[in-house]
Amino acid sequence: MRLNDLSAQVAADFLKAFNRPPRWIVAAPGRVNVIGEHTDYNDGFVLPMAIEFYAVMAADRPPGGENRVLIHSTAESEPASIDLSAPLRPSPLKWSNYPRGVIAGFLERGINLGGLDVFLRSTVPLGGGLSSSAALEVSTATLIEAVSGKKLDPVEKALLCQKAEHEFANVPCGIMDQFISVMGRESHLLLLDCRTRKTELVPMRDPSVELLISNTNVRHELGSGQYAKRRAQCEAAACVLGVPSLRDAQPASLQSARGKMEDVVFRRARHVIGENERTVQAAAAVRASQWQKVGDLMYASHKSLRDDYEVSCAELDAIVEIAEGIGPQGGVYGCRMTGGGFGGCTVALVKTDAVQAVTQQIGAAYKEKTGLTATIFGSRPAAGATVIKG
Ligand code: GLA
Repeated sequence: MRLNDLSAQVAADFLKAFNRPPRWIVAAPGRVNVIGEHTDYNDGFVLPMAIEFYAVMAADRPPGGENRVLIHSTAESEPASIDLSAPLRPSPLKWSNYPRGVIAGFLERGINLGGLDVFLRSTVPLGGGLSSSAALEVSTATLIEAVSGKKLDPVEKALLCQKAEHEFANVPCGIMDQFISVMGRESHLLLLDCRTRKTELVPMRDPSVELLISNTNVRHELGSGQYAKRRAQCEAAACVLGVPSLRDAQPASLQSARGKMEDVVFRRARHVIGENERTVQAAAAVRASQWQKVGDLMYASHKSLRDDYEVSCAELDAIVEIAEGIGPQGGVYGCRMTGGGFGGCTVALVKTDAVQAVTQQIGAAYKEKTGLTATIFGSRPAAGATVIKG
């Protein structure tokens, strides 16, 4: 759904729920990471883009002037009621912790938002590895900026949202998802240096290629604890190598230290070091429209995530194999899992004129291999968070 239509829909949702039109409407996108996976918390490089799927919030002051934020969501049966007169803490109502944590971040900075009635509708698939949670956090932050008239610096805004995820949702994520949801730009990928936080827009407007996202529609539970475990293994590797983070390590120094670390730690580090290199190369190849080179780097990234980092799963591997089987003759340059892993989505670089045929082929072959139905869709690189009304 186009953002204008989605915003009109949320305005209508608000009217229905609260009996008056909203005063503010804001949107923040989800993202797909083209390459640079599990590098953000190693001070490395990532190359995501915002997608045309959004968490949209419509809001107004409560007529009774209550000092609380009440959020109705199309995805949840229970609304979130966040009392602003007491210190904010994580709540058993899990989904409410994303907006809750963001509100807490603004209050900490002395930015008082005042009471709000809010209606939320998100088109970012939940739990699909497309950053539905970052979209919700950044949407909340954008709403608070609009109602308070206090705009944060974009880096500070993204970091505030990341902190909300750490402290209220208990997920030790890196900075990629919140940065791209804040800073995405239409027709561009974003090359982000996660150490310096310097960003570089990489134009991607060649009409002959598209990114095709395939949702496996599985999410393996074991994923949750594994993320923190990977972070710890990377820190262990950096410690053995005597560097502040794996960003500073070279393939040669890793090789010579191989005997000093567990094999699993060695393989985790090999992934991160290689992935940083691939990401920088991929950004240059996108700039030069060298699509087969980008595709090859995507396949190499997937293999490394599957074998060395061990965050893939049978369903993700199945789609990547199908894509590889279709090959460049069939219109696919490359494909890889995207996001944290253990389910969620793949991203493929596909020739525009082959998108329909490739969608059909991946869908049919995935069904045959796994018995499951994939959801397959394209997206152009979208803009970051915006105030639509207010
Ligand atoms: C999740 C995290 C990100 C990043 C990716 C893996 O999406 O939220 O910060 O670490 O996993 O690249």
